[in-house]
Amino acid sequence: MRIPIAKPIITGEEKARVLQVMESGMLVAGREVREFERQFADYLGAPHAVATSSGTTALEIALEAVGIGPGDVVATTPFTFVATSNAIVHRGAEPLFVDVDAQTYNLDPRALEEALRRRPGVRAVLVVHLFGLACDMPAIMALARRHGLLVIEDCAQALGAVVDSRQAGTFGDAAIFSFYPSKAITTGEGGMVVTGFPEVARRACMLVDAGRDGTEYDYEVIGYNYRMTNMAAAIGLVQLTHLDARNAIRRRHAEMLTRGLRDLPWVAVPVEPEGYRHVYNQYTVRVTGEREALAAHLRAREIGTKIYYPMLVPDTAAYRKRGQPPQFPVAARLVKEVLSIPVHPALAASDVEEVVQAVREFAPGLAAQGTAREPTGAAGGASRVEVREAGRSPSARRGGRRGGTA
Ligand SMILES: Cc1ncc(COP(=O)(O)O)c(C=O)c1O
Repeated sequence: MRIPIAKPIITGEEKARVLQVMESGMLVAGREVREFERQFADYLGAPHAVATSSGTTALEIALEAVGIGPGDVVATTPFTFVATSNAIVHRGAEPLFVDVDAQTYNLDPRALEEALRRRPGVRAVLVVHLFGLACDMPAIMALARRHGLLVIEDCAQALGAVVDSRQAGTFGDAAIFSFYPSKAITTGEGGMVVTGFPEVARRACMLVDAGRDGTEYDYEVIGYNYRMTNMAAAIGLVQLTHLDARNAIRRRHAEMLTRGLRDLPWVAVPVEPEGYRHVYNQYTVRVTGEREALAAHLRAREIGTKIYYPMLVPDTAAYRKRGQPPQFPVAARLVKEVLSIPVHPALAASDVEEVVQAVREFAPGLAAQGTAREPTGAAGGASRVEVREAGRSPSARRGGRRGGTA
């Protein structure tokens, strides 16, 4: 693809750092990993960070470290990458899927409240900040306090996202990040667990490293080998220095896409609620009718697209047997309408202009009777978030909440 949907940026800096590590002979569990953890925690303003071999293993470690185990019920979104709920199942716990908001694509706090009312005894909520936009964390944290829930944040797609001047990943009991190549920074494979609680961090450290408690061959818990290598951490250290600049490019590209597409009646562009910073890990539009034809039209021009996600997790074969009846009207509609188009920082501005032109040239067979622009919330009413279109600079509100979100 001439204009791919994702492309990691790896320069001579990363190559030089990796070579240094390889020449040192110290390939694992060394200085680079500790330094990457420290700098990552500093970036977020979080007290503790523990590096892992992937975002998936970070999820498993985070859930176990906060104490999720067999018999627990964990509320989460059906509209995500499957690793999120797999981690719940691997802990012997039960995912309770809850519908999402039609405009933000994130877990809908009203639907969560309703699910908690119907299903007493839920232990935790695992939120996903999808595509680079954080969930409505003030509302979710308020609900969690009221119901005594643990909160885990899946920030795999949201490194650098902000809500009310606060980084995604610093709200809950623990958070995880992924450094897969399509993410804001990459280490090839890699992940991070972040927490404000020293005991959660201590447990995460032990679990990642075979259960070691610091004594060479003594083990306090039954652990895993989910460690990050020094080569991966060396790449991550370089990548972290470029994070803000590259997220700024993503936001500029998103602004160009939004400006170029927002008048099309058959396309709904992503939103950025007041007080949020969206980091556009993906730029995901909703297209009514003829989504596949649009994807083919772009493919013919060598422009990559991807459907994140064509299926809800509970509708996949692995989850269907687990049997939660489908009850996600908003998410069910999103899987039919979403299409992600290129926004990543390896693109030139001219590439982004070309994407805009190519989408505009597509004349759907009047596909769209305008419905992409009139979403309804999970509870059937208008969304309570005030939304802005992508790219206008967020004016963080101080001392107040979005209208009506409490
Ligand atoms: C929302 C979400 N959670 C978890 C993961 C898992 O991360 P990894 O691929 O690093 O295991 C991903 C990765 O794609 C993701 O997008």
